[in-house]
Amino acid sequence: MAEELTPETPEESGEEPIKQRKNGLYPGVSDELAENMKSGWADTELHGLEPIAQAEHTARRRAALSARFPGERLVIPAGNLRTRSNDTEYSFRASTEYAYLTGDQSEDGVLVMEPVAGAKGTDGADGSGGGHEATIYLLPRSDRENGEFWLDGQGELWVGRRHSLAEAEQLLGIPAKDVRKLPEQLREATGPVRVVRGHDAAIQAALTDKVTAERDEELRVFVSEARLIKDEFEIAELQKACDSTARGFEDVVRVLDRAEATSERYIEGTFFLRARVEGNDIGYGSICAAGPHATTLHWVRNDGAVRAGELLLLDAGVETTELYTADVTRTLPINGRFTPLQRKIYDAVHEAQEAGIAAVRPGAAFRDFHDAAQRVLATRLVEWGLLGDLDVEKVLELGLQRRWTLHGTGHMLGMDVHDCAAARTEAYVEATLEPGMCLTVEPGLYFQADDLTVPAEYRGIGVRIEDDILVTEDGNRNLSAALPRDADEVEAWMAQLKG
Ligand code: GLY
Ligand code: MN
Ligand code: MN
Repeated sequence: MAEELTPETPEESGEEPIKQRKNGLYPGVSDELAENMKSGWADTELHGLEPIAQAEHTARRRAALSARFPGERLVIPAGNLRTRSNDTEYSFRASTEYAYLTGDQSEDGVLVMEPVAGAKGTDGADGSGGGHEATIYLLPRSDRENGEFWLDGQGELWVGRRHSLAEAEQLLGIPAKDVRKLPEQLREATGPVRVVRGHDAAIQAALTDKVTAERDEELRVFVSEARLIKDEFEIAELQKACDSTARGFEDVVRVLDRAEATSERYIEGTFFLRARVEGNDIGYGSICAAGPHATTLHWVRNDGAVRAGELLLLDAGVETTELYTADVTRTLPINGRFTPLQRKIYDAVHEAQEAGIAAVRPGAAFRDFHDAAQRVLATRLVEWGLLGDLDVEKVLELGLQRRWTLHGTGHMLGMDVHDCAAARTEAYVEATLEPGMCLTVEPGLYFQADDLTVPAEYRGIGVRIEDDILVTEDGNRNLSAALPRDADEVEAWMAQLKG
């Protein structure tokens, strides 16, 4: 990619005509060329577009938000591109709050909910004569007259065609305006306002005298808690994410011999291919941990050797095009067969996971599945003689099993892998489960390579099994059940895929 002619934005360069800007590497643009580039382009405006599949759901989500904050202006930015190095950027991923409330994923987009006085607004839900009108602020199509479409770094000739504001309105079901005017409008606005922080510095700066951290946090917490219960659209997306993820795991098993010839990177790249082709991306950095790396909980360097006779702990998830992610772990014998000790440890983790999954049902405490899984693991660790003379109750009371179980047994899952992270303790960790919640159940046992308290043969073995479980009216459904977990079934599945 060549450097664009004029890297600075119109704001930075004031009134300077775009055609005269240059960065030193390119000559200036002649009047003749500037004139030539203005015309001869077809009208590509799209008409009669159908709303996106999610539109009715996003309208309902905005109505709930409106009802919670009557009379207040609410500002929810998508965020901006972030620099990776010099003039290259990380790939853009819209903020969860913005995508959840709009169904849109445009960089620089901002949803503004304007309070409506005395009349029920388009997004009003409280029936008390208030409500809000939603407006989505977006970068419009590039101007051909002033040359920005080919001379500006954000011009469509460089980054691709955007939807026009009229097209965006039809697709999203939300009136759309030019985002470049929004900071000034927000600076001039009066009345109470809240913003979701951390996504868009320019929008936040425009509001700096009008907002407080505490009130803004209440907005973030509300959107986080609203996402605890998934609607039909979200459940279908999570199922898609799990199905793609299962295919990605199968891809990996098929190429394990090539990974053995190279490194864990082959596994990372193989899974990534599936995520990019079927979804938007991976939902988090894939953990492709072979051999002793499996005992490092978030091993994402993925630069180690893959050896027959050792285990591969693969923790990976496809994020769908609508930004819902799976979070699945399987621990696989690289040569297709567990050794007796690997199987003993694997079976204990599997048994703990079964106990955890069985504890996921409406009305159960969120902590129940963790406690159930920990009890199984503590029981096995005591049986194996790793905790001296202590009995299971004492071990659990003192939490001594945690030297090898290390982490919590699961978390909410959705648009973020650790979803609903801003929810209050009483709404999440200390709450009871309800139909529509989706969470992971992921016990593990990890014997560090330098752990002198276990027999030498245990050292360097790590096992985790993780599935994505939807709470249903009468219990639960395992969305990632397409991937086997039972040790015999894992071996049979691998044998079939390896041919
Ligand atoms: N992949 C991160 C986790 O399992 O929580
Ligand atoms: Mn995981
Ligand atoms: Mn997880």
